[in-house]
Amino acid sequence: MKALVLCGGKGTRLRPLTYTLPKQLVPVANRPILHYVMDQIESTGIKDIGVIIAPETGERIKEALSVNPWQFNFTFILQEEPKGLAHAVMVAREFLGDDPFLMYLGDNLIGQSIQGFVEEFRTSRPEALILLKPIPDPRMFGVAEVDRGGNVLRLVEKPKEPPSNLALVGIYLFSPAIHEAISRIKPSFRGELEITDAIQALLDAGKRVRSHVLEGWWLDTGKKDDLLEANRVVLDELVACALEGEVDEQSKVVGRVRLESGAQVERSTVRGPAVIGAGTVIRDSFIGPYTSVGRGCLIEGTALEHSVVLDGARLVNVERLEDSVIGRNAVVAAAKQNSKALRLMIGDDAEVNI
Ligand code: G1P
Repeated sequence: MKALVLCGGKGTRLRPLTYTLPKQLVPVANRPILHYVMDQIESTGIKDIGVIIAPETGERIKEALSVNPWQFNFTFILQEEPKGLAHAVMVAREFLGDDPFLMYLGDNLIGQSIQGFVEEFRTSRPEALILLKPIPDPRMFGVAEVDRGGNVLRLVEKPKEPPSNLALVGIYLFSPAIHEAISRIKPSFRGELEITDAIQALLDAGKRVRSHVLEGWWLDTGKKDDLLEANRVVLDELVACALEGEVDEQSKVVGRVRLESGAQVERSTVRGPAVIGAGTVIRDSFIGPYTSVGRGCLIEGTALEHSVVLDGARLVNVERLEDSVIGRNAVVAAAKQNSKALRLMIGDDAEVNI
């Protein structure tokens, strides 16, 4: 069995971060989302991974996977234009051959191992097996109608009136029958070849499509609040205490905190769960729970909580910052005394709430 990981897409919902960073590389607890995806695939024993890349971001994805602790055999496959998930499978046809495969969207994060799901596919051999998650409003997703036994009856992409509350999580298992189904579908209302339509084509041809309902959490890290939530959940569940950096005597580090090597905490309090990246300096500050600070940052005279700060950012004399995402090398500094004026240099699509 092979795996196909999709790393295309424009990531418009996470702008401005995604102008310079592919959405799959947005960090959660200081690791790119894509690395969590690879951890999941590793647990299934699959070794051959095709990675679909886009012209704009492909090099960055390759770089992020050049450290390869999983010892995967990567094949990078260029999708020239974002013409849909089923189109990506067509582009990968030669790599996939006639093997069954796991397809995984590279920006999807779930809180449950996929091992059981892959096992079920291997033993029960349906033409497709999809992962579903009940959510309150699934209109932004593919939606499935299933019977009591988990057999899929019908699928619709982004329905105005969803037939159920079961959204398609971007993790699928396919037999090679999917290729013929893809050859029979037409572009959707958004001009893309939808994998959802291809699976519906399998159903129309009388093939067996099974489903699994995810019990753990699923975060489609599409928007700022989703990203903060993903960060919170991962910090809560995965971060163990590890203090490799330096903490001076006037500082307090409480709870589960990962302080990477070369990080310094001076006259400050860090309350976990939190991660502080290598080489970052925290001075005269308070870092509250559910905060990830990247590498090479400076946080001085600032109280920060429930936030994600990317590499190289500087926060100076900010009284209190919460629920925020700060991009790479961004600077947030308080105005000089007696000045009420705000002085901003804000990138495209940035959002400032004062
Ligand atoms: C894609 C799929 C959709 C699925 C979603 C999961 O949507 O088309 O069926 O529910 O991924 O993240 P897109 O991200 O292209 O809007």
